[in-house]
Amino acid sequence: MSDASGRAEVDVDLSGIADFTANPYPYYEKLRAAGPVHTVRTDEFERVWLVVGYDEARATLADPRFAKDWRGLPGAPTESDPIFLNMLELDAPHHTRLRKLVAREFTARRVEALRPRVQQITDELLDAMVPAGRADLVDALAFPLPMTVICELIGVPDLDRDAFRGLSNGVVTPASPLQEMEAVRAMSEYLRELIEDKRCSPGDDLMSALVRTRDEEGDRLSPDELVGMAFLLLVAGHETTVNLIANGVRALLDHPGQLAALRDDPELTGGAVEEMLRYDGPVENATFRYPRGQVEIGQRTVPAGAPVLVSLAGADRDRARYPRPDTFDIRRDARGHLAFGHGAHFCVGAPLARMEGRIAIRTLLERCPSLARDPEAGELDWIPGMLIRGVRGLPVRW
Ligand code: HEM
Repeated sequence: MSDASGRAEVDVDLSGIADFTANPYPYYEKLRAAGPVHTVRTDEFERVWLVVGYDEARATLADPRFAKDWRGLPGAPTESDPIFLNMLELDAPHHTRLRKLVAREFTARRVEALRPRVQQITDELLDAMVPAGRADLVDALAFPLPMTVICELIGVPDLDRDAFRGLSNGVVTPASPLQEMEAVRAMSEYLRELIEDKRCSPGDDLMSALVRTRDEEGDRLSPDELVGMAFLLLVAGHETTVNLIANGVRALLDHPGQLAALRDDPELTGGAVEEMLRYDGPVENATFRYPRGQVEIGQRTVPAGAPVLVSLAGADRDRARYPRPDTFDIRRDARGHLAFGHGAHFCVGAPLARMEGRIAIRTLLERCPSLARDPEAGELDWIPGMLIRGVRGLPVRW
């Protein structure tokens, strides 16, 4: 349906709201008060379905009636770059197959073996940062830590990180469709060369292992699937964890009582990181899902093929699930939060992200006893769009 101006009708228009990116929570709260599922207009999309209630969000994420693979939908582009041939954009059985080939590399046991190296990288970054007395925490710690870890894991230790960061930002949060197209092309070319290198001179790393991997049935990844996998791991491995660390530190600095409690008892770090994920997680809305047929959620009928966003940020502030949801409380039981998603696409990297987050926060607080926001810094620069929640820089001093 469209209105007199020819635009699609929506329940709520979220486009053009100046402070939405800086603080979307009151808007999600208003929507939730009116019901768990809505159609909305956003800055990027004319009309999407938005699921903001916790129960409905969790159910949608686990519901096989919703597809992730958009190829084949009416109006979808007929060609797509291999970087999008990754498990997050595929459904069973392709998704199951790809996930199985990589999941064994990210088990809690495999990740635990990385702990000493994650601590060492953190220590070295802080050795470089601490003497200055002030820093941009994103540049000094939150970005280079997960980026170094994922690059070493995958086997690109000498990757030009700043160039890669630019390309990755261009794909995940593009400033324009043209910039997105160029970033996709450059990223794809770069990864294809990387995989060719691994094929010719394999190392003791994840990408080399994936190039030669075969499961019990002799299944292996095709060259395009390898490009897709490398893309997903590199991008998911750093675009998110950077914001766990930066959003988490921001929450602590804005809540001095909670910061003091954590300093008094560093054993609370594990729970504090879960609360950081719930209170202000890095992924604001999960990636799009599309109902294969008409589906009822939250007493609304979503038509086949309609784009559906599950609001992880909205769900994790649902007062029906978490009492006093807008209170940042590192001692609360935040378990069950949806920050890593839920169901078949639940984050493969969650054990690694949790370990990096805990080590980064704990070590930072030890090394910088008087950490505070830099009072001379200007306004925060928020990452645009509704996918990633975070800031581009976090000026601090100690
Ligand atoms: C705090 C950090 C992280 C957060 C909040 C996070 C969040 C998420 C979420 C919400 C999803 C599901 C998206 C959806 O269903 O639409 C996801 C999927 C995924 N994440 Fe993470 N992630 C984090 C770190 C990582 C890391 C470090 C890695 C890799 C090393 C990683 C790899 C992946 C992969 C491969 C998927 C796709 C899984 C699938 O499709 O089956 N993530 N992540």
